[in-house]
Amino acid sequence: MKSTITAVSVLSIGQVDPKIFGGFAEHLGRCIYEGIYEPGSALSDEQGYRQDVIEAVRRLRMPVMRYPGGNFVSCYDWRDGIGPREKRPARVDYAWQSLETNEFGVDEFIPWCRKVGTEPMLAVNLGTLGTLEAAHLLEYCNLETESEWVRRRRANTGHEKGYGIKLWCLGNEMDGPWQAGHVPAHEYALRADAASRMMKGLDPSIQTIAVGSSARGMKTYLEWDRQVLEHCWDTVDYLSAHRYSNNSANHSAEYLAEGVEIDRILTDYAGLLDYVRGVKKSHKRVYLSFDEWNVWYHSHGQREPKQLWTKAPHLLEDIYNVEDALIAAQYLNAFIRRADIVKIACIAQVVNVIAPIMTRQDGLFLQTIFYPFEMLSTHARGQSLSLSIQSPTYSAGKHGQVPVLDAACTLDPSTGRLMLSTVNRSIESEQVVEFEILDRKLQQVLFSQQIGGTDLKQTNSFDRPDAVVPTLARANIDDRKLRLKLPPTTHAVIVIDTSER
Ligand code: AHR
Repeated sequence: MKSTITAVSVLSIGQVDPKIFGGFAEHLGRCIYEGIYEPGSALSDEQGYRQDVIEAVRRLRMPVMRYPGGNFVSCYDWRDGIGPREKRPARVDYAWQSLETNEFGVDEFIPWCRKVGTEPMLAVNLGTLGTLEAAHLLEYCNLETESEWVRRRRANTGHEKGYGIKLWCLGNEMDGPWQAGHVPAHEYALRADAASRMMKGLDPSIQTIAVGSSARGMKTYLEWDRQVLEHCWDTVDYLSAHRYSNNSANHSAEYLAEGVEIDRILTDYAGLLDYVRGVKKSHKRVYLSFDEWNVWYHSHGQREPKQLWTKAPHLLEDIYNVEDALIAAQYLNAFIRRADIVKIACIAQVVNVIAPIMTRQDGLFLQTIFYPFEMLSTHARGQSLSLSIQSPTYSAGKHGQVPVLDAACTLDPSTGRLMLSTVNRSIESEQVVEFEILDRKLQQVLFSQQIGGTDLKQTNSFDRPDAVVPTLARANIDDRKLRLKLPPTTHAVIVIDTSER
């Protein structure tokens, strides 16, 4: 089968914000304890941070890292996690029915971010705490005055200067009845607006993210978002969106069309953001922070009762396969395609909990979903280009006929480098992809790798860490066109040096 992709450099959708390659670390399962932080381990540094994890996360080049939740944040008092460790209280975590020892808190998270090379994106509890506690956390983190919270930061950490944290999530999934402190949209909107105003009053350099719908399947989907946006338009900078994908039905042809659903959500939000902007007659823009996305279903129902109310239980430890990696690639392609509205996105999560990295005491392995993320966060730069794609279609269950090819493309005007990311959704057929950019010369292929294969259920593991890893993609430039032979169910990333025609 053959597909063609045509681009023109002036037809740009928008600048790709590197923050779409963000991560998320929640106090959940073994993400923090045994993942990020394991004092006493031979693999940890003197502060207790797992060095192998730091190395692996660095490879993902995540500009931002959301913390500390997730559902966890809505039951969390950040003040429990600061000060001398021996004085920190152990608490039950209602969200995940675990034990939280508070050995790790904001003063441990921020130095870890510095080691990884990422910017913290902190969530405040607007479920069971309020505006004042949120403002105090900001004061503790960012201010440089003589107040009590600033004095405590200085005493606890020696940090004279503030941490300078710019991104603040105003709660988490407050539309969900499972969320501690869940309220109707109008009430959340009042909370978010008040918190954002007070926090920006303390530090006008910050940006805030209001909670949007937690899933497209929610009864209040878009209506929740509309109410929140209409109330908070002038005080917030982003609206959040979340999605988790699954192949519980074991219908791979349907599952592989997941990008269609992701595009649909982004189209819904593009419409809503424009609508509210129009109603407000506003010149301001509010963008989308897609701050939880991933595949989540392999671990459903795996919780053992004996792990209730214990520290770092094995929770949400999905082991990912080839088809899941193709879903991860489609999320990222979709975010690139909507570079005009998606300015932040965070894979949920970063280690051990629905994560690209899995640890045990003696090491780690990289999951299949690690590689599309690594390839794209390394190579997607500059402008997202509008593409004309001619692709055969296939029958994708409830989605009907869907294009076999999913693609995104970026061009960095400062270097002339072009990146093409393509997924062949076909389970049976190779795709010959011909790519052309009408107003540029394709000089040479600088990078060409692919990940996938026909054994859709193949995973990596401690025993076989390299069962699914990238291999060389068959790409060459021929008569001003790039020709790529893309095997069935494969994701490829090609980087090409281009020059003016
Ligand atoms: O990432 C796991 C959970 O999924 C988060 O805690 C919550 O925000 C979402 O429902």
